[in-house]
Amino acid sequence: TASYLGWFGYSLDLFNYPTHYSGDLDCVIIPHGVIMDRTERLARNIMDDLGDHDIVVLCVLKGGYQFCADLVERIKALSRNSNHTIPMRVHFIRLRSYLNDQSTEDLHILGAEDLSFLAGKGIVGTGKTMETLLQHVKAFKPKMIKVAGLLVKRVQHSLASVPDYVGFEIPNRFVVGYALDYNEYFRDLNHICIISESGKKKYKV
Ligand code: HPA
Ligand code: MG
Repeated sequence: TASYLGWFGYSLDLFNYPTHYSGDLDCVIIPHGVIMDRTERLARNIMDDLGDHDIVVLCVLKGGYQFCADLVERIKALSRNSNHTIPMRVHFIRLRSYLNDQSTEDLHILGAEDLSFLAGKGIVGTGKTMETLLQHVKAFKPKMIKVAGLLVKRVQHSLASVPDYVGFEIPNRFVVGYALDYNEYFRDLNHICIISESGKKKYKV
């Protein structure tokens, strides 16, 4: 199993997960319920910071779709229960930079339009992806840009850019689940897990 910084993750036996992935995972590092609880708090923080600004949420596909959808739901719920409602529009763009578990040099941005608030991003790995995207978004001169990332990986050197809202800091390991994929597999897994060596082999392209 995964061994890093004395943290072994949760045994897979503690949770339900799709049986078609048995043998493909090492451990659960963030159970789905914990992601939901954290997302609720992030939504609160975002609401508190935003004041009266309209939001344009820019969801980064594909890995960010689940986090973005859940975060938007929580913001809506908080909005409903207060006299402080925030108009939200949601846009989608698509980035692709990973092959197997490796970051590739070429980053593709598809579908970027008129963007004035950035609020949903699934994951920040090296930070290279985020930097490139931010450059692109800044060109549209939004009033304010905020980045929300569910995960930030602990890396040796300090990150070039860190999201304004971070869900969890995790070890620098390749993770899957909650819409994060390995060659398009594991998006249908609710928990964030570490893929096993045999899992990597099985779904390698
Ligand atoms: N998992 C899935 N996709 C990713 C990751 C990861 O750990 N890092 C960057 N993209
Ligand atoms: Mg991917």
